[in-house]
Amino acid sequence: MSEQRKYDFKKQHYAGEEGRLIPLLQRAQETDGYITRERITEIHRDCGIPVAQIYGVATFYAQFRLHPVGKNLIKVCHGTACHVSGANAITEAIEKTLGICNGETTPDKLFTIETVSCLGCCSLAPVIMINNDTHGNLTEKEVKKVLKQHQRAAIGEVQ
Ligand code: FES
Repeated sequence: MSEQRKYDFKKQHYAGEEGRLIPLLQRAQETDGYITRERITEIHRDCGIPVAQIYGVATFYAQFRLHPVGKNLIKVCHGTACHVSGANAITEAIEKTLGICNGETTPDKLFTIETVSCLGCCSLAPVIMINNDTHGNLTEKEVKKVLKQHQRAAIGEVQ
């Protein structure tokens, strides 16, 4: 393991404190983009939390990812307002456009589709978020247009 670890998981601060595991995992994901095996090993070693428990928490909460995501993370809201406003059709349009299923990453690692429960802007339903950009009041046609813009930007033709 690297001498210059990004974490300072002091055993005396976290040992036996299961509630502290979530912030540790959040920090690991912020740093690496997802929960890596190395971080799980590091948390286990530094905090004394069993590996099975760490995996249990990481797989229980939808906020944690155990696989890397693409350069552009597409969060498709399936909260109540978005669901009744056509979130399923939006997801299908994205899947069709990118050629992947929800939860997957494109082979070129440019896009990942993820379902979320509410993006906090229900009046704009249906809503998606691509990285930090929010797109609301979407139709299938509009979402395809948004994706094309992000595809062009991702390959350097725009911006
Ligand atoms: S339900 Fe989609 S933003 Fe709230």
